[in-house]
Amino acid sequence: MSQKVVAVAGATGMVGRQMLHVLEERNFPVKSLKPLASDRSRGKSVTFKGEEIPVEVMTETSFKGVDIALFSAGGGTSKHFAPFAAKDGCVVVDNSSAWRMDPKVPLVVPEVNGADIAWHEGIIANPNCSTIQMVVVLKPLHDAATITRVVVSTYQAVSGAGKAAVDEMYAQTRAVLAGEEPVCHIFPHPIAFNCIPQIPQSNAFGDNGYTSEEMKMVYETRKIIGDETIQVCPTCVRVPVDNCHSESILVETEKKLSVDDARRLFAATPGIIVVDDLAAKTGVGASTISRIETGRRTISFDVLVPLARGLDVSVDELIANDRHDEVVIRPEPHHSPGMTVWTLSRPGSAMQAVKMRIEPDAPDPEPQVHPGHDFMFVLDGTVRLTLGGVDHVVSAGESAEFSTMTPHAVVAVDRPAEVLMIFDRDGALAHLHD
Ligand SMILES: NC(=O)c1ccc[n+]([C@@H]2O[C@H](COP(=O)([O-])OP(=O)(O)OC[C@H]3O[C@@H](n4cnc5c(N)ncnc54)[C@H](OP(=O)(O)O)[C@@H]3O)[C@@H](O)[C@H]2O)c1
Repeated sequence: MSQKVVAVAGATGMVGRQMLHVLEERNFPVKSLKPLASDRSRGKSVTFKGEEIPVEVMTETSFKGVDIALFSAGGGTSKHFAPFAAKDGCVVVDNSSAWRMDPKVPLVVPEVNGADIAWHEGIIANPNCSTIQMVVVLKPLHDAATITRVVVSTYQAVSGAGKAAVDEMYAQTRAVLAGEEPVCHIFPHPIAFNCIPQIPQSNAFGDNGYTSEEMKMVYETRKIIGDETIQVCPTCVRVPVDNCHSESILVETEKKLSVDDARRLFAATPGIIVVDDLAAKTGVGASTISRIETGRRTISFDVLVPLARGLDVSVDELIANDRHDEVVIRPEPHHSPGMTVWTLSRPGSAMQAVKMRIEPDAPDPEPQVHPGHDFMFVLDGTVRLTLGGVDHVVSAGESAEFSTMTPHAVVAVDRPAEVLMIFDRDGALAHLHD
Protein backbone atom coordinates (compact mmCIF):
# COMPACT_ATOMS: atom_id res chain seq x y z
CA MET A 1 0.00 0.00 0.00
CA SER A 2 1.29 3.48 -0.79
CA GLN A 3 1.92 5.97 2.01
CA LYS A 4 -1.30 7.65 3.20
CA VAL A 5 -2.18 10.92 4.89
CA VAL A 6 -4.21 9.74 7.90
CA ALA A 7 -6.44 11.83 10.18
CA VAL A 8 -7.68 10.55 13.53
CA ALA A 9 -10.82 12.41 14.62
CA GLY A 10 -11.00 12.14 18.42
CA ALA A 11 -7.26 11.50 18.76
CA THR A 12 -7.19 12.59 22.42
CA GLY A 13 -9.90 10.10 23.53
CA MET A 14 -9.67 6.51 24.81
CA VAL A 15 -10.42 5.04 21.39
CA GLY A 16 -8.43 7.63 19.40
CA ARG A 17 -5.29 6.95 21.43
CA GLN A 18 -5.73 3.23 20.84
CA MET A 19 -6.09 3.91 17.10
CA LEU A 20 -2.75 5.76 17.11
CA HIS A 21 -1.19 2.84 18.98
CA VAL A 22 -2.51 0.29 16.45
CA LEU A 23 -1.39 2.39 13.45
CA GLU A 24 2.07 2.44 15.00
CA GLU A 25 2.12 -1.23 16.07
CA ARG A 26 0.95 -2.43 12.62
CA ASN A 27 3.46 -0.13 10.90
CA PHE A 28 0.61 1.26 8.78
CA PRO A 29 2.10 3.30 5.90
CA VAL A 30 1.37 6.75 7.36
CA LYS A 31 2.85 9.54 5.24
CA SER A 32 1.68 12.14 7.72
CA LEU A 33 -0.69 12.09 10.69
CA LYS A 34 -3.33 14.68 11.48
CA PRO A 35 -4.69 14.32 15.04
CA LEU A 36 -8.04 16.12 15.39
CA ALA A 37 -10.12 16.86 18.49
CA SER A 38 -12.37 19.57 19.93
CA ASP A 39 -11.61 23.08 21.04
CA ARG A 40 -10.91 21.64 24.51
CA SER A 41 -7.68 20.11 23.16
CA ARG A 42 -6.27 23.34 21.72
CA GLY A 43 -2.54 23.42 22.55
CA LYS A 44 -2.35 19.64 23.28
CA SER A 45 -0.26 17.16 21.30
CA VAL A 46 -0.14 13.38 20.82
CA THR A 47 2.92 11.14 20.46
CA PHE A 48 3.17 9.08 17.27
CA LYS A 49 6.30 7.05 16.40
CA GLY A 50 8.26 9.00 19.00
CA GLU A 51 7.22 12.36 17.54
CA GLU A 52 5.07 14.99 19.30
CA ILE A 53 2.33 16.07 16.88
CA PRO A 54 0.10 19.06 17.74
CA VAL A 55 -3.63 18.34 17.90
CA GLU A 56 -5.76 20.42 15.51
CA VAL A 57 -9.31 21.53 16.20
CA MET A 58 -11.58 19.66 13.76
CA THR A 59 -13.38 21.83 11.21
CA GLU A 60 -15.32 21.16 7.99
CA THR A 61 -12.14 21.79 5.96
CA SER A 62 -9.79 19.63 8.06
CA PHE A 63 -9.91 16.76 5.53
CA LYS A 64 -8.55 18.44 2.40
CA GLY A 65 -5.57 16.33 1.25
CA VAL A 66 -6.35 13.54 3.76
CA ASP A 67 -6.59 9.97 2.33
CA ILE A 68 -8.11 8.12 5.30
CA ALA A 69 -9.89 9.49 8.38
CA LEU A 70 -10.53 7.28 11.40
CA PHE A 71 -13.45 8.84 13.28
CA SER A 72 -14.02 8.23 16.97
CA ALA A 73 -15.37 11.47 18.38
CA GLY A 74 -19.02 10.59 19.08
CA GLY A 75 -22.06 10.05 16.86
CA GLY A 76 -23.09 13.71 16.47
CA THR A 77 -19.57 14.73 15.44
CA SER A 78 -19.39 11.92 12.85
CA LYS A 79 -22.83 12.76 11.48
CA HIS A 80 -21.78 16.36 10.92
CA PHE A 81 -18.15 16.06 9.77
CA ALA A 82 -17.93 12.71 7.89
CA PRO A 83 -19.84 13.98 4.79
CA PHE A 84 -17.40 16.93 4.50
CA ALA A 85 -14.48 14.49 4.65
CA ALA A 86 -16.05 12.17 2.05
CA LYS A 87 -16.78 15.16 -0.24
CA ASP A 88 -13.07 16.03 -0.12
CA GLY A 89 -12.18 12.52 -1.38
CA CYS A 90 -11.19 11.11 2.00
CA VAL A 91 -12.31 7.59 3.03
CA VAL A 92 -13.91 7.74 6.48
CA VAL A 93 -13.85 4.71 8.78
CA ASP A 94 -16.40 5.62 11.44
CA ASN A 95 -16.38 4.05 14.87
CA SER A 96 -19.57 5.76 16.10
CA SER A 97 -23.16 4.61 15.60
CA ALA A 98 -24.00 7.55 13.28
CA TRP A 99 -23.82 5.69 9.94
CA ARG A 100 -24.03 2.02 10.82
CA MET A 101 -27.58 1.35 9.68
CA ASP A 102 -27.45 3.67 6.62
CA PRO A 103 -28.10 1.38 3.61
CA LYS A 104 -25.45 3.26 1.58
CA VAL A 105 -22.78 2.61 4.22
CA PRO A 106 -21.13 -0.81 4.57
CA LEU A 107 -20.95 -2.02 8.18
CA VAL A 108 -17.80 -4.09 8.29
CA VAL A 109 -15.95 -6.56 10.50
CA PRO A 110 -12.95 -7.61 8.35
CA GLU A 111 -13.02 -11.28 9.46
CA VAL A 112 -16.74 -11.58 8.65
CA ASN A 113 -17.71 -9.36 5.70
CA GLY A 114 -14.52 -7.55 4.66
CA ALA A 115 -15.54 -7.73 0.98
CA ASP A 116 -18.37 -5.24 1.71
CA ILE A 117 -15.88 -2.33 1.73
CA ALA A 118 -15.92 -2.65 -2.07
CA TRP A 119 -19.28 -0.75 -2.26
CA HIS A 120 -18.51 2.18 0.03
CA GLU A 121 -19.27 5.74 -1.11
CA GLY A 122 -16.75 7.50 1.14
CA ILE A 123 -17.92 6.24 4.55
CA ILE A 124 -17.37 2.78 6.05
CA ALA A 125 -18.81 2.05 9.52
CA ASN A 126 -17.58 -0.38 12.12
CA PRO A 127 -20.06 -1.88 14.55
CA ASN A 128 -20.53 -1.61 18.26
CA CYS A 129 -17.82 -3.37 20.27
CA SER A 130 -20.19 -6.04 21.63
CA THR A 131 -21.47 -6.83 18.13
CA ILE A 132 -17.93 -7.08 16.70
CA GLN A 133 -16.77 -9.82 19.03
CA MET A 134 -20.06 -11.69 18.75
CA VAL A 135 -20.33 -11.80 14.94
CA VAL A 136 -16.78 -13.14 14.58
CA VAL A 137 -17.88 -16.31 16.42
CA LEU A 138 -21.39 -16.40 14.95
CA LYS A 139 -20.26 -16.30 11.30
CA PRO A 140 -18.62 -19.77 11.12
CA LEU A 141 -21.56 -21.29 13.02
CA HIS A 142 -24.06 -19.59 10.71
CA ASP A 143 -22.20 -20.73 7.58
CA ALA A 144 -22.13 -24.32 8.85
CA ALA A 145 -25.54 -24.72 10.49
CA THR A 146 -27.70 -21.55 9.96
CA ILE A 147 -28.33 -19.66 13.19
CA THR A 148 -31.97 -19.05 14.08
CA ARG A 149 -31.66 -17.44 17.55
CA VAL A 150 -28.96 -15.93 19.76
CA VAL A 151 -29.29 -15.13 23.48
CA VAL A 152 -26.33 -13.01 24.58
CA SER A 153 -25.31 -11.43 27.90
CA THR A 154 -22.46 -8.94 27.87
CA TYR A 155 -19.99 -7.97 30.59
CA GLN A 156 -18.75 -4.61 29.30
CA ALA A 157 -15.69 -2.83 30.59
CA VAL A 158 -15.83 0.79 31.73
CA SER A 159 -13.36 1.91 29.02
CA GLY A 160 -16.24 1.53 26.54
CA ALA A 161 -17.83 4.63 28.12
CA GLY A 162 -14.74 6.83 27.57
CA LYS A 163 -11.82 8.18 29.52
CA ALA A 164 -13.92 10.21 31.96
CA ALA A 165 -15.82 7.02 32.90
CA VAL A 166 -12.60 5.10 33.67
CA ASP A 167 -11.42 8.03 35.82
CA GLU A 168 -14.78 7.96 37.63
CA MET A 169 -14.49 4.23 38.37
CA TYR A 170 -11.02 4.67 39.93
CA ALA A 171 -12.14 7.75 41.92
CA GLN A 172 -15.21 5.89 43.22
CA THR A 173 -13.14 2.80 44.09
CA ARG A 174 -10.70 4.92 46.08
CA ALA A 175 -13.65 6.65 47.82
CA VAL A 176 -15.38 3.37 48.76
CA LEU A 177 -12.14 1.89 50.12
CA ALA A 178 -11.63 5.06 52.18
CA GLY A 179 -15.15 4.68 53.62
CA GLU A 180 -16.49 7.71 51.69
CA GLU A 181 -19.59 8.10 49.50
CA PRO A 182 -18.79 7.52 45.78
CA VAL A 183 -19.68 10.51 43.60
CA CYS A 184 -21.43 9.93 40.22
CA HIS A 185 -20.95 12.24 37.23
CA ILE A 186 -20.92 9.85 34.28
CA PHE A 187 -22.83 6.78 35.47
CA PRO A 188 -26.37 6.92 36.92
CA HIS A 189 -25.27 4.70 39.84
CA PRO A 190 -21.85 3.96 41.37
CA ILE A 191 -19.90 1.64 39.07
CA ALA A 192 -17.27 0.81 41.70
CA PHE A 193 -18.07 -2.64 43.19
CA ASN A 194 -21.29 -2.71 41.14
CA CYS A 195 -22.79 -3.84 37.80
CA ILE A 196 -25.15 -1.58 35.82
CA PRO A 197 -27.47 -3.12 33.19
CA GLN A 198 -27.89 0.21 31.39
CA ILE A 199 -25.71 1.05 28.38
CA PRO A 200 -25.26 3.84 27.40
CA GLN A 201 -25.43 5.59 30.74
CA SER A 202 -28.06 8.15 29.65
CA ASN A 203 -31.20 7.92 27.46
CA ALA A 204 -30.60 4.18 27.32
CA PHE A 205 -34.09 2.65 27.30
CA GLY A 206 -36.37 2.48 24.27
CA ASP A 207 -40.14 1.89 24.24
CA ASN A 208 -39.65 -1.89 24.08
CA GLY A 209 -37.65 -1.88 27.35
CA TYR A 210 -34.37 -2.77 25.67
CA THR A 211 -31.44 -0.33 25.79
CA SER A 212 -30.03 1.22 22.62
CA GLU A 213 -26.83 -0.83 23.11
CA GLU A 214 -28.96 -3.99 23.11
CA MET A 215 -30.90 -2.97 19.99
CA LYS A 216 -27.58 -2.22 18.20
CA MET A 217 -26.64 -5.87 18.78
CA VAL A 218 -29.92 -6.95 17.15
CA TYR A 219 -29.81 -4.74 14.02
CA GLU A 220 -26.03 -4.68 13.43
CA THR A 221 -25.71 -8.48 13.68
CA ARG A 222 -28.35 -8.95 10.97
CA LYS A 223 -26.72 -6.39 8.65
CA ILE A 224 -23.18 -7.80 9.01
CA ILE A 225 -24.14 -11.48 8.71
CA GLY A 226 -26.56 -10.57 5.93
CA ASP A 227 -29.56 -12.42 7.37
CA GLU A 228 -32.57 -10.40 8.58
CA THR A 229 -34.21 -13.48 10.12
CA ILE A 230 -31.69 -14.06 12.92
CA GLN A 231 -33.38 -13.45 16.31
CA VAL A 232 -31.09 -11.81 18.86
CA CYS A 233 -32.03 -11.44 22.55
CA PRO A 234 -29.34 -9.32 24.28
CA THR A 235 -28.74 -8.14 27.85
CA CYS A 236 -25.91 -5.58 28.12
CA VAL A 237 -24.29 -4.97 31.49
CA ARG A 238 -21.49 -2.58 32.50
CA VAL A 239 -19.05 -4.25 34.93
CA PRO A 240 -16.33 -2.56 37.03
CA VAL A 241 -13.20 -3.58 35.08
CA ASP A 242 -11.25 -1.04 33.04
CA ASN A 243 -10.61 -3.13 29.91
CA CYS A 244 -11.75 -6.30 28.11
CA HIS A 245 -15.39 -6.88 27.20
CA SER A 246 -16.71 -10.45 27.63
CA GLU A 247 -19.87 -12.21 26.47
CA SER A 248 -21.79 -15.38 27.13
CA ILE A 249 -23.67 -16.50 24.01
CA LEU A 250 -26.31 -19.20 23.54
CA VAL A 251 -26.89 -20.11 19.89
CA GLU A 252 -29.74 -22.09 18.33
CA THR A 253 -29.11 -23.48 14.85
CA GLU A 254 -31.28 -25.01 12.15
CA LYS A 255 -28.89 -27.94 11.63
CA LYS A 256 -27.54 -29.90 14.58
CA LEU A 257 -24.03 -28.86 15.61
CA SER A 258 -22.00 -30.60 18.31
CA VAL A 259 -19.62 -28.84 20.70
CA ASP A 260 -16.71 -30.55 18.95
CA ASP A 261 -17.98 -29.29 15.56
CA ALA A 262 -18.15 -25.76 16.96
CA ARG A 263 -14.62 -26.00 18.39
CA ARG A 264 -13.29 -27.25 15.05
CA LEU A 265 -15.03 -24.38 13.23
CA PHE A 266 -13.63 -21.82 15.69
CA ALA A 267 -10.11 -23.25 15.46
CA ALA A 268 -10.26 -22.86 11.66
CA THR A 269 -11.51 -19.25 11.74
CA PRO A 270 -9.08 -16.32 11.45
CA GLY A 271 -9.41 -14.01 14.45
CA ILE A 272 -10.57 -16.73 16.89
CA ILE A 273 -8.24 -18.52 19.29
CA VAL A 274 -9.66 -21.46 21.28
CA VAL A 275 -7.69 -21.27 24.48
CA ASP A 276 -9.94 -22.80 27.13
CA ASP A 277 -8.55 -26.35 26.95
CA LEU A 278 -5.02 -25.14 27.57
CA ALA A 279 -6.26 -22.73 30.26
CA ALA A 280 -7.98 -25.58 32.13
CA LYS A 281 -4.89 -27.81 31.85
CA THR A 282 -2.41 -25.17 32.97
CA GLY A 283 -4.40 -23.06 35.41
CA VAL A 284 -3.18 -20.00 33.46
CA GLY A 285 -6.09 -17.68 32.60
CA ALA A 286 -7.43 -17.86 29.05
CA SER A 287 -6.93 -14.13 28.59
CA THR A 288 -3.28 -14.40 29.73
CA ILE A 289 -2.66 -17.21 27.22
CA SER A 290 -4.35 -15.18 24.51
CA ARG A 291 -2.19 -12.14 25.30
CA ILE A 292 1.01 -14.25 25.22
CA GLU A 293 -0.05 -15.86 21.93
CA THR A 294 -0.74 -12.52 20.26
CA GLY A 295 2.52 -11.03 21.55
CA ARG A 296 0.82 -8.51 23.87
CA ARG A 297 2.34 -10.09 26.99
CA THR A 298 5.84 -11.48 27.35
CA ILE A 299 6.07 -14.98 28.82
CA SER A 300 7.07 -14.62 32.48
CA PHE A 301 8.33 -17.10 35.12
CA ASP A 302 4.93 -17.46 36.83
CA VAL A 303 3.34 -18.91 33.69
CA LEU A 304 6.36 -20.66 32.21
CA VAL A 305 6.24 -23.86 34.29
CA PRO A 306 2.43 -24.41 34.11
CA LEU A 307 2.45 -23.73 30.36
CA ALA A 308 5.33 -26.16 29.78
CA ARG A 309 3.47 -28.83 31.84
CA GLY A 310 0.19 -28.16 30.02
CA LEU A 311 1.87 -28.38 26.63
CA ASP A 312 3.80 -31.47 27.76
CA VAL A 313 7.21 -29.99 26.94
CA SER A 314 10.17 -29.03 29.11
CA VAL A 315 10.74 -25.38 30.04
CA ASP A 316 13.92 -25.52 27.91
CA GLU A 317 11.92 -26.64 24.89
CA LEU A 318 9.31 -23.94 25.45
CA ILE A 319 11.84 -21.11 25.33
CA ALA A 320 14.48 -22.67 23.03
CA ASN A 321 14.97 -20.76 19.81
CA ASP A 322 17.89 -22.61 18.21
CA ARG A 323 16.35 -25.88 17.10
CA HIS A 324 19.14 -27.04 14.81
CA ASP A 325 17.39 -30.35 14.27
CA GLU A 326 14.45 -28.52 12.63
CA VAL A 327 16.38 -26.68 9.92
CA VAL A 328 15.13 -29.03 7.22
CA ILE A 329 11.36 -29.16 6.73
CA ARG A 330 9.61 -31.94 4.80
CA PRO A 331 6.34 -30.39 3.64
CA GLU A 332 3.24 -32.61 3.52
CA PRO A 333 0.49 -31.92 0.97
CA HIS A 334 -2.93 -30.83 2.34
CA HIS A 335 -5.81 -31.30 -0.08
CA SER A 336 -9.05 -29.37 -0.40
CA PRO A 337 -11.40 -29.20 -3.42
CA GLY A 338 -9.33 -27.90 -6.37
CA MET A 339 -6.31 -27.04 -4.26
CA THR A 340 -3.22 -28.67 -2.71
CA VAL A 341 -1.14 -26.75 -0.18
CA TRP A 342 2.37 -27.51 1.15
CA THR A 343 3.45 -25.43 4.19
CA LEU A 344 7.16 -24.67 3.70
CA SER A 345 7.86 -22.87 6.99
CA ARG A 346 7.50 -23.89 10.64
CA PRO A 347 4.20 -23.12 12.42
CA GLY A 348 4.50 -19.91 14.44
CA SER A 349 7.18 -18.36 12.19
CA ALA A 350 6.75 -14.60 11.74
CA MET A 351 6.44 -15.14 7.95
CA GLN A 352 4.74 -18.20 6.47
CA ALA A 353 5.73 -19.64 3.10
CA VAL A 354 3.46 -22.07 1.23
CA LYS A 355 3.41 -23.74 -2.17
CA MET A 356 -0.06 -24.03 -3.70
CA ARG A 357 -1.25 -26.08 -6.65
CA ILE A 358 -4.51 -24.63 -7.96
CA GLU A 359 -6.67 -26.66 -10.36
CA PRO A 360 -8.46 -24.78 -13.16
CA ASP A 361 -11.80 -26.28 -12.05
CA ALA A 362 -11.38 -25.26 -8.36
CA PRO A 363 -14.53 -23.68 -6.84
CA ASP A 364 -14.51 -19.88 -7.31
CA PRO A 365 -12.87 -18.49 -4.14
CA GLU A 366 -14.58 -15.79 -2.00
CA PRO A 367 -12.44 -12.61 -2.26
CA GLN A 368 -10.60 -12.18 1.05
CA VAL A 369 -9.83 -8.95 2.91
CA HIS A 370 -7.54 -8.77 5.93
CA PRO A 371 -4.78 -6.58 7.32
CA GLY A 372 -1.27 -7.14 5.93
CA HIS A 373 0.61 -7.76 2.73
CA ASP A 374 0.84 -10.83 0.46
CA PHE A 375 3.62 -11.83 -1.93
CA MET A 376 3.12 -14.41 -4.71
CA PHE A 377 5.52 -16.01 -7.23
CA VAL A 378 4.15 -18.21 -10.04
CA LEU A 379 6.28 -21.35 -10.36
CA ASP A 380 4.27 -23.00 -13.16
CA GLY A 381 1.21 -22.15 -15.28
CA THR A 382 -0.77 -18.91 -15.20
CA VAL A 383 -3.06 -17.45 -12.55
CA ARG A 384 -5.65 -14.70 -12.56
CA LEU A 385 -5.28 -12.47 -9.50
CA THR A 386 -8.43 -10.40 -8.90
CA LEU A 387 -7.69 -7.33 -6.78
CA GLY A 388 -10.61 -5.09 -5.86
CA GLY A 389 -12.55 -6.30 -8.91
CA VAL A 390 -9.62 -5.77 -11.35
CA ASP A 391 -8.05 -8.86 -12.99
CA HIS A 392 -4.26 -9.28 -13.31
CA VAL A 393 -2.78 -12.21 -15.26
CA VAL A 394 0.43 -13.49 -13.65
CA SER A 395 2.45 -16.16 -15.50
CA ALA A 396 5.30 -18.51 -14.58
CA GLY A 397 8.40 -16.53 -13.59
CA GLU A 398 6.36 -13.45 -12.62
CA SER A 399 5.48 -12.29 -9.12
CA ALA A 400 2.84 -10.04 -7.55
CA GLU A 401 2.79 -8.09 -4.31
CA PHE A 402 -0.30 -6.41 -2.91
CA SER A 403 -2.02 -4.99 0.15
CA THR A 404 -4.46 -7.53 1.49
CA MET A 405 -6.96 -4.85 2.56
CA THR A 406 -8.03 -4.96 -1.12
CA PRO A 407 -10.45 -7.87 -1.74
CA HIS A 408 -8.28 -10.51 -3.44
CA ALA A 409 -8.71 -13.95 -5.00
CA VAL A 410 -6.53 -16.21 -7.17
CA VAL A 411 -7.63 -18.80 -9.78
CA ALA A 412 -5.68 -20.95 -12.25
CA VAL A 413 -6.10 -20.15 -15.96
CA ASP A 414 -6.70 -23.09 -18.38
CA ARG A 415 -4.43 -25.63 -16.62
CA PRO A 416 -3.12 -26.33 -13.09
CA ALA A 417 -0.88 -23.58 -11.72
CA GLU A 418 1.71 -23.74 -8.95
CA VAL A 419 2.48 -20.65 -6.90
CA LEU A 420 4.73 -19.79 -3.99
CA MET A 421 3.01 -17.51 -1.47
CA ILE A 422 4.60 -15.60 1.41
CA PHE A 423 2.21 -14.42 4.13
CA ASP A 424 2.77 -12.19 7.12
CA ARG A 425 1.02 -13.12 10.41
CA ASP A 426 -2.35 -11.65 9.36
CA GLY A 427 -2.13 -13.27 5.92
CA ALA A 428 -1.33 -16.64 7.47
CA LEU A 429 -4.32 -16.32 9.84
CA ALA A 430 -6.60 -15.52 6.90
CA HIS A 431 -5.36 -18.14 4.41
CA LEU A 432 -3.84 -21.00 6.39
CA HIS A 433 -6.48 -21.72 8.98
CA ASP A 434 -7.01 -25.30 8.03
N1 LIG B 1 -17.29 0.89 18.21
C1 LIG B 1 -17.27 0.79 19.48
O1 LIG B 1 -17.44 -0.25 19.98
C2 LIG B 1 -17.02 1.97 20.34
C3 LIG B 1 -16.60 1.80 21.64
C4 LIG B 1 -16.36 2.93 22.38
C5 LIG B 1 -16.56 4.16 21.78
N2 LIG B 1 -16.98 4.27 20.51
C6 LIG B 1 -17.16 5.55 19.81
O2 LIG B 1 -15.99 6.27 19.98
C7 LIG B 1 -16.30 7.55 20.50
C8 LIG B 1 -15.15 7.99 21.37
O3 LIG B 1 -15.07 7.17 22.50
P1 LIG B 1 -13.94 7.40 23.58
O4 LIG B 1 -14.10 6.32 24.55
O5 LIG B 1 -12.62 7.57 22.91
O6 LIG B 1 -14.43 8.79 24.21
P2 LIG B 1 -13.55 9.88 24.92
O7 LIG B 1 -12.44 9.27 25.67
O8 LIG B 1 -14.53 10.72 25.69
O9 LIG B 1 -12.96 10.78 23.73
C9 LIG B 1 -13.77 11.54 22.85
C10 LIG B 1 -12.91 12.13 21.75
O10 LIG B 1 -13.73 12.82 20.82
C11 LIG B 1 -13.30 14.17 20.71
N3 LIG B 1 -14.44 15.06 20.47
C12 LIG B 1 -15.59 15.14 21.16
N4 LIG B 1 -16.39 16.11 20.62
C13 LIG B 1 -15.73 16.60 19.56
C14 LIG B 1 -16.01 17.62 18.60
N5 LIG B 1 -17.16 18.29 18.61
N6 LIG B 1 -15.09 17.88 17.64
C15 LIG B 1 -13.93 17.21 17.62
N7 LIG B 1 -13.59 16.24 18.50
C16 LIG B 1 -14.48 15.95 19.47
C17 LIG B 1 -12.66 14.45 22.06
O11 LIG B 1 -11.83 15.56 21.96
P3 LIG B 1 -11.45 16.42 23.28
O12 LIG B 1 -10.43 15.62 24.03
O13 LIG B 1 -10.93 17.68 22.71
O14 LIG B 1 -12.73 16.58 24.05
C18 LIG B 1 -11.90 13.14 22.28
O15 LIG B 1 -10.75 13.13 21.49
C19 LIG B 1 -17.63 7.37 21.21
O16 LIG B 1 -18.35 8.53 21.30
C20 LIG B 1 -18.30 6.35 20.34
O17 LIG B 1 -18.92 7.04 19.26
C21 LIG B 1 -17.21 3.19 19.79
